Amino acid sequence: MNNLPSHIAIIMDGNGRWAKAQGKNRTFGHEKGAETVRAITTYCSQHPQIKHLTLYAFSTENWKRPKLEVEFLMKLLERYFKKELPLYLENNIQFLPIGNLSSFSPSLQKTILNVCEATAHCTGLVQSLALNYGGKDEIIRAAQKLHEANISITETSLSQALDCTQEVDILIRTGGDHRISNFLLWQSAYAELFFTNTLWPEFKSDELEKILSKFQKVERRFGGLN
Ligand code: FPP
Repeated sequence: MNNLPSHIAIIMDGNGRWAKAQGKNRTFGHEKGAETVRAITTYCSQHPQIKHLTLYAFSTENWKRPKLEVEFLMKLLERYFKKELPLYLENNIQFLPIGNLSSFSPSLQKTILNVCEATAHCTGLVQSLALNYGGKDEIIRAAQKLHEANISITETSLSQALDCTQEVDILIRTGGDHRISNFLLWQSAYAELFFTNTLWPEFKSDELEKILSKFQKVERRFGGLN
């Protein structure tokens, strides 16, 4: 496939509804969602034109969910990072989290940083999970960093001070809603937006392939004329 996007970002929505439709707890949907993360990450790592995959795993607003669900998600993340290191290494994937990790438990922070360090030498796909991430929070933290370092704020300096320094080419949201929910606000300035009713646990690489074929036909003008 030619003319693939360099950076794909995905809002993984619909875990809870998928689980409910199976007569199960919402947490079952998150478990299945983690399997989809694995499958989609593997698919992207096999297409060298795709350089970055950024997945929205836990937003700055997700702390408002019931305590038990938040606790479950924290444990699931810890389990995921402990179990999935071979997935990253076998597929030459570098892991780079985005978001403010300082709100997580020391143990989860350590587990996340361990995957970062262990995959730092990988030269293939860069997979980012957005963890305690909000686009507004990211922009504020970047502006504060520049202010503290006495660096003037320009488009270039701010772009480079963000957690995610790569422009998004395709932003996909599963689960049927048409909003971007504070995800990669700056980086998605010229992203092509794709919305699907498919719930995240059921999102498969063949659907991603169909989205990629549509992307290949889009004429991107970035505000100019052809
Ligand atoms: C949205 O579905 C999903 C989340 C808030 C969490 C995303 C988490 C995962 C995909 C699984 C964990 C990921 C890893 C990497 C281990 P929702 O719960 O809002 O679904 P709903 O809209 O149907 O309620």
